[in-house]
Amino acid sequence: MNAESRTRLNQTPEWTALAKHREEFGDTRLRDLFATDPGRGSGYTLQVGDLHVDYSKHLVTDETLRLLRDLAAATDVFGLRDAMFRGEKINVTEDRAVLHTALRAPRDAVIEVDGENVVPAVHAVLDKMADFAQRVRSGEWTGHTGKRIKNVVNVGIGGSDLGPAMAYEVLRSFTDRDLTVRFVSNVDGADLHEAVRDLDAAETLFIIASKTFTTIETITNATSARNWLLTELKAGQEAVAKHFVALSTNAEKVSDFGIDTANMFEFWDWVGGRYSYDSAIGLSLMIAIGPDRFREMLDGFHLVDEHFRTAPAESNVPLLLGLLGVWYGNFFDAQSHAVLPYSHYLSKFTAYLQQLDMESNGKSVDRDGREVEWQTGPVVWGTPGTNGQHAYYQLIHQGTKLIPADFIGFAEPVADLLPGLVAQHDLLMANFFAQTQALAFGKAPEEVRAEGVAEELVPHKTFKGNHPTTTILARELTPSVLGQLVALYEHKVFVQGAIWNIDSFDQWGVELGKVLAKRVEPALTEGAEVPGLDESTKALVAKYRELRGR
Ligand code: F6P
Repeated sequence: MNAESRTRLNQTPEWTALAKHREEFGDTRLRDLFATDPGRGSGYTLQVGDLHVDYSKHLVTDETLRLLRDLAAATDVFGLRDAMFRGEKINVTEDRAVLHTALRAPRDAVIEVDGENVVPAVHAVLDKMADFAQRVRSGEWTGHTGKRIKNVVNVGIGGSDLGPAMAYEVLRSFTDRDLTVRFVSNVDGADLHEAVRDLDAAETLFIIASKTFTTIETITNATSARNWLLTELKAGQEAVAKHFVALSTNAEKVSDFGIDTANMFEFWDWVGGRYSYDSAIGLSLMIAIGPDRFREMLDGFHLVDEHFRTAPAESNVPLLLGLLGVWYGNFFDAQSHAVLPYSHYLSKFTAYLQQLDMESNGKSVDRDGREVEWQTGPVVWGTPGTNGQHAYYQLIHQGTKLIPADFIGFAEPVADLLPGLVAQHDLLMANFFAQTQALAFGKAPEEVRAEGVAEELVPHKTFKGNHPTTTILARELTPSVLGQLVALYEHKVFVQGAIWNIDSFDQWGVELGKVLAKRVEPALTEGAEVPGLDESTKALVAKYRELRGR
């Protein structure tokens, strides 16, 4: 769409109607919304797959939701959605299709990019991954010295790390507990050091995960890992083939690195890095949980894809979650969004969502290259809930900021939990329910007084409430449920990017730092004169060299 053809978002009648509605909404209290609509608790809920989504504790009425859906219609969210599913090049700045949904499409689906059906290639790679994963899991694939592989180390960063690292944690109870699986991402040598220091190189497989195979952190760590392995094994390059495989779109660079392309698992430029862990990038996860569980996860993704593609606006869950974020970000000036899982296994889930959301929607020019005049993606943050309760929840409850939050919890503890620990699950979930109640309804001064609290402490012990939350509840945390959750957030991010008219699929904002790091490095190592280095950085570099005795 060119610059002239689309009315700017904040000049549409739908935006103006929302702004007016926000004014009228004023300081409406959740207490009052529930009092006037006793059915709200069960009425403001939706189901997608195994996920029960409760949005009753949001600062919205039927009218708000209608106006938000009008905005989605005016910005043609579903039109862009259909273009994405059709394989059109909606990543406009990179001229690429956006087809992570093809990674979990069934074998008989037909999805074309440039006139070619990509589904057979997707399944061919999945089959190759499954074959390899089985060979590692069964002990058939051995290392250079003939020893069974017991350790798998994924080396990658960003989307080539966060997804598999998160999913491995989430699905730990489904993993082969005899395998040690680790993830190295940081170019700080400490990361690789800690990952390999207690491993037997003869039993270790390195998976080098990089879409481009040019990312400096990953190539540096991969080179160090190769040096470590060959030194430990006292072997030559011939040992590499049994201990290194690659996940990439770039066969030439993989081969330059010394990895046989027969040991390369391919994906494609229409898979964004942060949307890639259900592609070959998930190989470490597949080895850990096995191909059948991996496919269950893909089915979970697909289920939510189909829901997003076909459900009407009124019951479309990713649309709803995206719109709620727009409501708070654009009309309440909320700057951040918390994701608070009540499952220890989801400890890396929010970190994963940070890249998904902030790299996608952290943009300030629209798809036509014009400065946006409205807020775009929020700061996404959070850690597992009960730990957060004893750290930063104070600010959410009684601070001055509005922080919409997602609470994610499960009715059942994981199946293999030690029997003696199962009883703790009700206590965990009691906290889960108590927190959203406290956030929504707070505690009025008169309630505090009724407890006999001294008058001077009443303001301190009062909770204003009205903090909006979504509750996502499922029976159990399974591979399918993980796929459903991730797809839900992927499509939520999509909805928001579509409304804000930004390209959610490029990431130019990470480039400048990369270029400057390359330029600064010789100043650190050789004291080289770096043209264009500003005075502050020059002084810091000099201090660094002095501290290092250079
Ligand atoms: O951080 C920028 C980025 O390009 C991410 O989008 C990507 O996930 C990451 O770097 C890693 O890239 P690659 O897989 O090509 O090594």
